[in-house]
This record gives sequence, C-alpha cells and structure tokens, in this order.
Amino acid sequence: MPGTVITGAQWGDEGKGRFTDYLAERSDLVVRYQGGHNAGHTIVVDGTTFKLQLVPSGILYEHVTPVIGNGVVVDPIVLLKELDLLASQGLNTSRLRVSGNAHVIMPYHQEIDRLTERYLGKNKLGTTKRGIGPCYADKALRVGIRMQDLLDEKILRAKLETVLREKNLVLAKVYNRPGYDIEELMQTYLALVPRLEPMLDDTVHLVHKALDDGKEVLFEGAQATFLDLDHGTYPYVTSSNPIAGGACPGAGIGPRALTRIIGVAKAYVTRVGAGPFPTELPLEEGDVAYAPGTSDEIISRDMEIGNFLVDRGREFGTNTGRRRRPGWLDCVMLKHAVRLNTCTEIALCKLDVLGGLDEVKICVAYETPDGKRIDHVPYHQSAFHEVKPVYETLTGWDKDIEDTANFSDLPANAKAFINRVEAIVGVPVTFASTGPARDHTVVMPRS
Ligand code: IMP
Repeated sequence: MPGTVITGAQWGDEGKGRFTDYLAERSDLVVRYQGGHNAGHTIVVDGTTFKLQLVPSGILYEHVTPVIGNGVVVDPIVLLKELDLLASQGLNTSRLRVSGNAHVIMPYHQEIDRLTERYLGKNKLGTTKRGIGPCYADKALRVGIRMQDLLDEKILRAKLETVLREKNLVLAKVYNRPGYDIEELMQTYLALVPRLEPMLDDTVHLVHKALDDGKEVLFEGAQATFLDLDHGTYPYVTSSNPIAGGACPGAGIGPRALTRIIGVAKAYVTRVGAGPFPTELPLEEGDVAYAPGTSDEIISRDMEIGNFLVDRGREFGTNTGRRRRPGWLDCVMLKHAVRLNTCTEIALCKLDVLGGLDEVKICVAYETPDGKRIDHVPYHQSAFHEVKPVYETLTGWDKDIEDTANFSDLPANAKAFINRVEAIVGVPVTFASTGPARDHTVVMPRS
C-alpha cells in the first residue's frame, strides 16, 4: 500500500505545491484531503505559472488522476473558474474526480465568515474569508450541503429550506443583513450540475482500488500542522485537520495505508493572519514585543532581516495577496510537527532565500518568563504567547544558490544548516528547494 502524505510542518505557505508537484510526477493518484480554496499553490513549469487553489497539483500530469476527497470543502463556482483558467493555459482538466461527499461552501458561509471576523473586532482570526470555518461548522452540525445533494433538486431544496431558516434569521437578527433567497440559490447551483456531475465520484473506492493495485497514491495536505484545528495555535487555526492523520477521515483510508510522511518546512518561517509566533521578526516598529532594554540596534537589524525575507522570498499570499509575517526557523515547532505527523522526513524549502545573510539563526529552545529553558511547545496558549526564542547562530552562505540542483554544489554552510536541522528534529531532510522553478529541487543523496 504505497501511500505518501505531504503536509505543511509550519503555518502554511511552506512550498508544499512544488514538492507535491515533484512527487506527483511519480504518482498515479494525487488526493486533497482537507481545506478548500483557502489554500494556494504556485507551480512554475517552463516559465508558465499555474496557481492552484482547490485542484490537486497532480492536474499538471496527464498520467495522474487528481482527486478532491470527501474531507475538502468545495465552492463549486470557484472550482469551475479554476478549471476554466487551467484549461485556458492548455491543461486537460477532465481527469479530475470530486467526492460526492465533499461539503459545499455556499454564499452564506462566505458572508458569515466575513461578518464574524468583523464582529470579533481586534480579536479577529484573520481568516481568508472564503467561508471555510462556517462550512465545516455546518458539516459538524449536520446541516451541510454535500456535492451529491446538488444532483437531486428535491433533496437540495429540502436541505436549503432547513438551513436557510436558521441562517437568514441569524443574518437578520444578529448582523442586520439581508437573507438569501432559496429560489436564487437553487437556480445558481442547479445550473452548475451539467458541468459538475461528470466529475463526481466515489473517491474512497478510487483511492482503495489504486492502493490495492499497488499504485502510488499521494495525499496532498493544505494549510499546515500549526493551523490544525486540534493541534495548531487555536483559535488562530483553520477548521480542518491538515496533519498527516487528517488524510484518514479526509480521504477514507486507515493509518496503515501510509508509508511515507513528508513534512514541508521553509528554511525560515512565515505566517499569515493573527496568532502567536515566537521567532517573528518585525517588518515595522511595534510588530514584535521585545524585552525591555533591547537595543534599537538589535530591533532595526531584525527589521532589516524581516523585510529581506519578505522581499527575497516574495512572501505574499497566492490568493489573498496578504503580506506574510516572517521569522527565523523554529526547530522546537518543527520537532513537534515531526511528532504530530510521524514524519519520515522533511522537505526544506526556499534555502536560497537565506543566501546572502552573514549569519542565520535557528530557534533551538524557548525561554519562559520565569527564565526556564524548555525544548517543547507548551500546550497552554498563554504560555506559548509568552515564550522567547533561544537561538543558535550559524554562519551564513553568501553564494547565490538559486539554480543549484545538486547537494554537492551547495555551499558548505548551507549543508551545515541542513545537517543541524536534521540533528535537532531527528529525521532526514530528503529534499531542499533553491528557487521557484521545478528544476530548483535538490534531492538529497540519501532519498
Ligand atoms: P481560514 O482557513 O480561512 O478559516 O483561516 C484561518 C487561519 O488559517 C488564518 O490565519 C489564515 O490566514 C490561515 N490560513 C488558511 N489557509 C492558509 C494557507 O493556505 N496558508 C497559510 N495560512 C492559511
């Protein structure tokens, strides 16, 4: 049963898309198992940039069947637009299979996502406002609409009647907003059926058939470990389980189907939206709370590096355009991610971005406000908010490594950086990336 999971080991945007693309070429099925169009993967092939939100990266290969599993939340309008765009770029999108059990993101989910964020004021989560949380909430409340429901007018109407009764009341009474008209929704969604119906499938069966036949199945996680609903920095998380174990409910497999689990990490860290971030580097004054007495020189040097990482790493959201918060690599969190996912290995992305810095820092422990050194992520939210990073400083590498595709060509200090990460987190780094294009992938000698 050759099942591989690829998942983000930080707060998302680690560059999963490029490694997924690399592994997809060697796979038969590529299956998304959670999340929705809050995800965004950019893949550059022969100078053409493909931006994927919902469609699994395997779409780029004729021999791959891309699958949207039951654990994904699908906005069918966005899905069809994405497929149209990919088709206009010359891709054959007809192989895509979508689970009939995947839940549908409806317009009221997006509206409620926007309104609750506004309602939370300064406590807002910084969601992507794509309706992800409200859609998963309805799934858990058992009032969700599934893709298969769109195929049956009677069922769709009955379900919408039930759900709109509550949603429209909430919109009117709590948020003072107009409600949704059932006839308009029926018309909009039924009109999509002729295009959607041929894609819908029993994806659990498809996945098991492939595994039984000894085919390579790649489970593609979206978002990341520390955005996981259960194991992330709650409440600043997404509403699904991106960790490798999430592939089980999200695609309908058991843990024994998985043999290889790849955690993707950037050589530094970024996060979008709100929430704690121990190794954060400021972009502007006031972004990071320094200990009293920290010199202006240290703060302005940190700011310089923060801006360097954002500019050099082009750290802006694929979909939302939001600027990401940058920070040094946090190996305490990475080690925790290795445990949570039972990673067999790490893929280290954007190594080239660090090139040119005199020194590079790795967070190896935290210090608590009472001066204690700890080497694990504290479970308590307040404790995690308060920890300060303890760094190890390594010498940087000034050689421009973009385009380096062989491990042996990497500068000695870049190799030392990789070796140190491996020693701390306890699993090998099997891939590294040194630039945005497909061939900027270094496959480590032992993988
Ligand atoms: P939601 O998934 O839109 O509900 O947003 C919840 C949190 O997850 C917010 O902090 C988002 O910025 C973050 N988030 C969601 N999707 C991604 C992603 O693909 N990359 C990075 N952060 C994400």
